[in-house]
Amino acid sequence: MANHFLSRTVVAVLAVACVGMPVAASANTEVETAELLIKLVQVGRGVLSENQATINDASKGDKGITGDFVANQVIDRFRKATKIDLSRPATVPQAPLFLAMVESEKEVIDEAQPVINKQGVGFKGIIPAVFARKSGERFYRKTGIRVKLTSIDYRFPGNRPDDFEAEVLRIFADTRHPKGQPYSKATMLDGRPVLRMMDPEYAATTCLSCHGNPKGERDVTGAKKEGWHEGDLAGAISIVIPMK
Ligand code: HEC
Repeated sequence: MANHFLSRTVVAVLAVACVGMPVAASANTEVETAELLIKLVQVGRGVLSENQATINDASKGDKGITGDFVANQVIDRFRKATKIDLSRPATVPQAPLFLAMVESEKEVIDEAQPVINKQGVGFKGIIPAVFARKSGERFYRKTGIRVKLTSIDYRFPGNRPDDFEAEVLRIFADTRHPKGQPYSKATMLDGRPVLRMMDPEYAATTCLSCHGNPKGERDVTGAKKEGWHEGDLAGAISIVIPMK
């Protein structure tokens, strides 16, 4: 089990050992790329949750929560979090890749405009997790990189952990795993070399209205609450980057 708690450097070194020199040069970049893409997903969900009250406002029609509005906020927060400024893509290595995620997020919000702007309806099912899933699906079609939310007690069937993810979620759930530490591994998927990274997330009080207690009671979305308590492992963002 010890090698499950790999530091990022070790992972990069391991990638050298496992898949040979040509890949080695790009392995470290892929770890960084994975971290930054996960950050972009987190930032996107954060933007959505900050605007959740407006989105849920039944009294308002046009809410101004357009794809461009969300994309700009994402770029803004991403810059604050990472110092990487996607509004000046010429200065950013791999800008097209990151912008493909921003574009995916924008498209999801643009597509949802009729729902978001519907007057007289409060909760519309536009929530961070769904937004992240749909953005991830679009991003995969654009780039071949898989990004998903997953959990041991998942709700959406497509978020079901695969064998690798289930094992890493068990590691994350183990109290010996340092809280918040991501896990990454250069491995194979469908016969191809990939870098996989998972970043654990934990239940905050804001999550408990849907995922909390009483367990089994219906939440606002109509689904059964999982019975999580604050600080429990909620799940993870999981990413699979094909290695060249
Ligand atoms: C408004 C209710 C609501 C709130 C609040 C909420 N979630 Fe969820 N969550 C959902 C729904 C609904 C899904 C299924 C999304 C989908 O269709 O992909 C979900 C999915 C997830 C998933 C993916 C696995 C799965 O169940 O399909 C994770 C992980 C998750 N939520 C964690 C959180 C965390 C962490 C928070 C707080 C920061 C949170 N959720 C807040 C309703 C909620």
